[in-house]
Amino acid sequence: MSQKISLTRYLIEQQRRDGHIPQDLRLLLEVVARACKSISQAVNKGALGGSASILGTAHTENVQGEVQKKLDIIANEVLIEANEWGGHLAAMASEEMQSIYAVPNRYPQGEYLLLFDPLDGSSNIDINASIGTIFSVLRKPEGTSAVAESDFLQPGSQQVAAGYCIYGPQTTLVLTVGDGVAMFTLDREQGSFVLIEENVRIPEDTQEFAINMSNMRHWDAPVKRYVDELLAGQDGVRHKDFNMRWVAAMVADVHRILCRGGVFMYPWDKREPEKAGKLRLMYEANPMSWLVEQAGGAATNGRQRILDLQPGKLHERVSVVLGSKNEVQRLTSYHSQL
Ligand code: F6P
Ligand code: MN
Repeated sequence: MSQKISLTRYLIEQQRRDGHIPQDLRLLLEVVARACKSISQAVNKGALGGSASILGTAHTENVQGEVQKKLDIIANEVLIEANEWGGHLAAMASEEMQSIYAVPNRYPQGEYLLLFDPLDGSSNIDINASIGTIFSVLRKPEGTSAVAESDFLQPGSQQVAAGYCIYGPQTTLVLTVGDGVAMFTLDREQGSFVLIEENVRIPEDTQEFAINMSNMRHWDAPVKRYVDELLAGQDGVRHKDFNMRWVAAMVADVHRILCRGGVFMYPWDKREPEKAGKLRLMYEANPMSWLVEQAGGAATNGRQRILDLQPGKLHERVSVVLGSKNEVQRLTSYHSQL
C-alpha cells in the first residue's frame, strides 16, 4: 500500500459512500478506537504503569464470578469515560458490569448502544501474552426514552458495527460496519491507526483448529467425534493432518483465524450443564461472528447461526464454533446427525 490510510479517513470514506455509515456512528467508532489506544498504552507499561503495578488481581469478582484483574477494571473505566460524553450513545454494557450503564443526564443522549468486553483473555495479562478489547454496536430501538436492559436484547444480525482491538506484538484494530472486514495497526509515532488490510478473507478450508483439549472428557458426542477425526490425521476419515493452537484469549484465536484461517470452538460441556457455554453471546460471540461472516467464514452454536440467536439476558452464554466455512459446516452437521 503506497499511501497510508488512517482509520479516520477510512471511516469518512465509508460515510461518504451513500452514507453507508452515519456521522454519529463514525464518531462513535473513532472514540472507541481512541479508548483502545489508551488501553494499549496501559497494557504496554505493564508493571511500570503508575505508582503501583497495574498488573495482578483487583481481588474482586465480576458478574460471571471471575476474578477481576486490575487492568480489566482500568480498561472498563477508560471505555466508559471516553464514550459517555460524546452524545452518540444512549447506554453501554460490559462484561465487567452487572447492569447497563445509561449515559448520565448531564450529557446529550445518542441513538446507539455499545457493548464490550474491555479486556478479553485477561489471564494472559500477567504473562505478557496477547489480550484485546471486543465491541459491538447496536441501534437503540425506536420510541424508547429511558434505556433498559431489554433494549440491548437484539440478535447479532442487528449489529451496525463490531470489532476488536488486539494488544499483541502490534496493536491492531479490526472492524466491520457490514462491508467486509478491515484491519488497522497502531502507528505509535503518528498516534493513529493505519489501514493494513481492507478485505480480510478466511479460506474455506483449513488444517488448523483451536479448542481447550483439557475439556475433552466433558464434551458431548458431536464435538468429540469431530475432534477425534481431526486428531486421527492422515490415517483417519479426514485423510489429512491437523495442527492445534490455543492462545486462551478469544480475541487472539479469532485474530489468527482472520489472518490465515482455522476453526475455533468453545462448546457446551458437562462441567456446568445449565450454562450454554463459556463465552458471552452479546459482547464476545456476536461481534466475532459478524466479523467472521463478513470475512467469508461461518459461526454457529453447533446447531444455529449465532447471529440469529435471540438473547434472553445481557450476560447470556453461548456455545461457539467459528472460522473456516467448511469446518464449521461439518461440525454443525454432526450435531444434526447425532
Ligand atoms: O473470555 C473468556 C475467555 O478468556 C476467552 O477469551 C478464551 O477463549 C477462553 O475464555 C479461554 O478459556 P480457557 O480458560 O478454558 O482456556
Ligand atoms: Mn472475554
